[in-house]
Amino acid sequence: MPAAGIAARVVRWQREHGRHTLPWQNTRDPYRIWLSEVMLQQTQVATVLGYYERFLQRFPDVAALAAAPLDEVLALWSGLGYYSRARNLHRCAQAVVAEHGGRFPPDAATLATLPGIGRSTAAAIAAFAYGERAAILDGNVKRVLTRAIGFAGDLARPAEERALWREAEALLPEEGIERYTQGLMDLGATVCLARRPQCLLCPLAEVCVARIEGTPESYPVKTRTLRRGRRRHALLWLRRADSVWLVQRPDTGVWAGLWSLPEYESAEALQALVAGWPGQGAWLDPFVHVLTHLDWTLEPLRWTLPPALAAEPGAVEAALPAGRWFTRAEALAAGLPAPVRRLLEADQPMTMDLSRR
Ligand code: ADE
Repeated sequence: MPAAGIAARVVRWQREHGRHTLPWQNTRDPYRIWLSEVMLQQTQVATVLGYYERFLQRFPDVAALAAAPLDEVLALWSGLGYYSRARNLHRCAQAVVAEHGGRFPPDAATLATLPGIGRSTAAAIAAFAYGERAAILDGNVKRVLTRAIGFAGDLARPAEERALWREAEALLPEEGIERYTQGLMDLGATVCLARRPQCLLCPLAEVCVARIEGTPESYPVKTRTLRRGRRRHALLWLRRADSVWLVQRPDTGVWAGLWSLPEYESAEALQALVAGWPGQGAWLDPFVHVLTHLDWTLEPLRWTLPPALAAEPGAVEAALPAGRWFTRAEALAAGLPAPVRRLLEADQPMTMDLSRR
């Protein structure tokens, strides 16, 4: 039975070679497990460790997190990236308190109805916290499983993705779901790497279809990501009284010649830039701008300078790319990229009285 063979090998390997001392292991507390799984969704273990400890110190339980102001959650999250995770984390904590009596739902299907908890994260929480036999299938695990069973379907197609979920469920062991789930994660993170998989160290090597074929790197198959690129940048929406700082885009490339918000390499870079600035900011929901060859995700940070400084923004201006202040009316009359226009249009006009200056 190849299916039974795979799970048993993963479980045995995890016992001897997997990770056992991560701070979110050796607990059944769904709050701690949920927090770690959300942090680990797009971030590596080494980065998560420090954030995880600080979060738990400040928010020891779900009620504390739900009661905190969102700004404080975002500030503690600062540097982890993908800020929609932090907003969903906060919403999820509030939903657990308001709709589930302060207790995380006891099964994967209900967990998956909460903000920021997808099917795979729900399964991981339910497996670790409750021992539920639920299948995980995040990016790493897709790689492990497609290689192990030689699943060559194109995961860009929803029907193939559903088929892989069924395979993942069929592989689940009768017992030891916690160790199996952790083992798949550990294999994906340390052995079954995207490039240069360490097949000599792999407990599945003898049964792995991709290894036997000799082409483990050709799995998983996903056409869309092969054709389309992705980019991710942060945008600074800097507000000062009734004005916004705009920069003119170069004459070539995306949004050529239009006036737009200053763009930064990453949310981390932008967060670092504004760290010492007066005023206050909030990360807004990212949006995706679809171009022919790439999906461009933009994460806007709205930063509002305080009224006192609004009259004399010199020090802040010195740190900005060349551009100028536009009043709201001027900005809306200028050539703006459509998503930037939508952002500014949705903003309430500010009615700050600067007559005393
Ligand atoms: N990545 C996602 N979940 C994880 C976990 N529980 N341990 C280690 N890495 C992970």
